[in-house]
Amino acid sequence: MNTAFEKQDRTGPVLFRTYEKGSGLKKALSMERNDILDELRESKLKGRGGAGFPTSTKWMIVAAASDSKKYVICNADEGEPGTFKDRVLLTEYPELVFEGMVIAGYTIGADEGIVYLRGEYFYMLSFLEKFLEDMRSNGLLGKNILGKDGFNFDISIRLGSGAYVCGEETALIESLEGYRGEPRNRPPFPVNTGFMGHPTIVNNVETLASVPHLIMNGGAWFCEMGTDKSTGSKLFSVSGDCDSPGVYELPWGTTIKELLKIVGAENAKAVQVGGASGICFGKKDFSRSLAYEDAATGGSIMIFNESRNMLHVLKSFMEFFVEESCGQCTPCRIGNVKLLEGVEMIERGEFTFEYIEKLKDLGRTMQVASKCGLGQTSPNPFISILENFKDEIFNPREVNEAV
Ligand SMILES: Cc1cc2nc3c(=O)[nH]c(=O)nc-3n(C[C@H](O)[C@H](O)[C@H](O)COP(=O)(O)O)c2cc1C
Ligand code: SF4
Repeated sequence: MNTAFEKQDRTGPVLFRTYEKGSGLKKALSMERNDILDELRESKLKGRGGAGFPTSTKWMIVAAASDSKKYVICNADEGEPGTFKDRVLLTEYPELVFEGMVIAGYTIGADEGIVYLRGEYFYMLSFLEKFLEDMRSNGLLGKNILGKDGFNFDISIRLGSGAYVCGEETALIESLEGYRGEPRNRPPFPVNTGFMGHPTIVNNVETLASVPHLIMNGGAWFCEMGTDKSTGSKLFSVSGDCDSPGVYELPWGTTIKELLKIVGAENAKAVQVGGASGICFGKKDFSRSLAYEDAATGGSIMIFNESRNMLHVLKSFMEFFVEESCGQCTPCRIGNVKLLEGVEMIERGEFTFEYIEKLKDLGRTMQVASKCGLGQTSPNPFISILENFKDEIFNPREVNEAV
């Protein structure tokens, strides 16, 4: 824990700012549930876990459900390569995450919250359990929270076991129910049929942590930051070839170039935005904005300088997907193996451009035919790295010899 990441100064417009413990929750409990939903809707907060689904819509559906049992699940699986922002929130700002969950419970009418914690974060379990215990002692969890008659809510923490796909919300729910962590068919969505068959909201750590500040300051305040379609700020986990790796809170709409300047990486050759399943941008695209409507990301930013071999980078991403595919559906189970084989063929110089184009088509088919987000996004690095770094990867002299 005592790394350069943890020593970094933390300042930011929404999350990395001063917060008085309990204040957001106290204010939320003084509000009508519909007024909380209105603030959320006005804020245009979208899920920070990657998919960018409007948070207010999710909460409204579950709030309107007639089931007497509902759940709030905090997705703390954080398995996307290059992402470590949720770890920072949980260790440095747990009050925001847990209060966000309690506010969610109050708003939708749930009395139970579960944190699905990445297995590798086992080391923080006792710290988080102690924090929850303190919240109970201070009346922020348990029965009649902060004196609000009849509002009961408690949180438990369950550990994942290291499968990347268990971050996908339906696989996560399967795993929580004690089954093998494999994505379900959707619909039905968790908001209708979630944990143990009950309406459930699954939200990312960062989404939930934004809620107490949003309640304190209002939806309109949140919209003052970012862009029209991507409001507020975003935590970026920055790693790779830069002077100052770490977690940065910046407004949505920041360009890749601006971010590279902030982290000391102006000599970057490539930036992988959105983790292994994201898009790899070259210099010509560094003016693109980090936003849902442009270069979208759940927060992972991996930087590569001139010394990096982009084919090796691509190979390690594809090896990851072959390893992590749950194998349920053919496009992903077979497709990722074929894409990896293609990378290995390029490596050996035994390929034709026609076959590589066929593999890109296969990738596009996987994007539409795979059952869950893993297979729908795993071709992204294959397509973007081969297109944006073709001069480096397909050295014309060697290719002539190879074909
Ligand atoms: C393979 C895969 C892995 C995922 N991993 C995570 C994760 O670690 N954390 C997360 O919040 N969302 C993850 N998601 C997205 C979740 O399915 C879901 O969209 C998210 O938890 C919803 O929360 P949000 O609306 O607050 O973003 C993953 C999706 C896929 C397809
Ligand atoms: S896309 Fe991949 S991870 Fe998702 S269900 Fe299909 S095989 Fe499993």
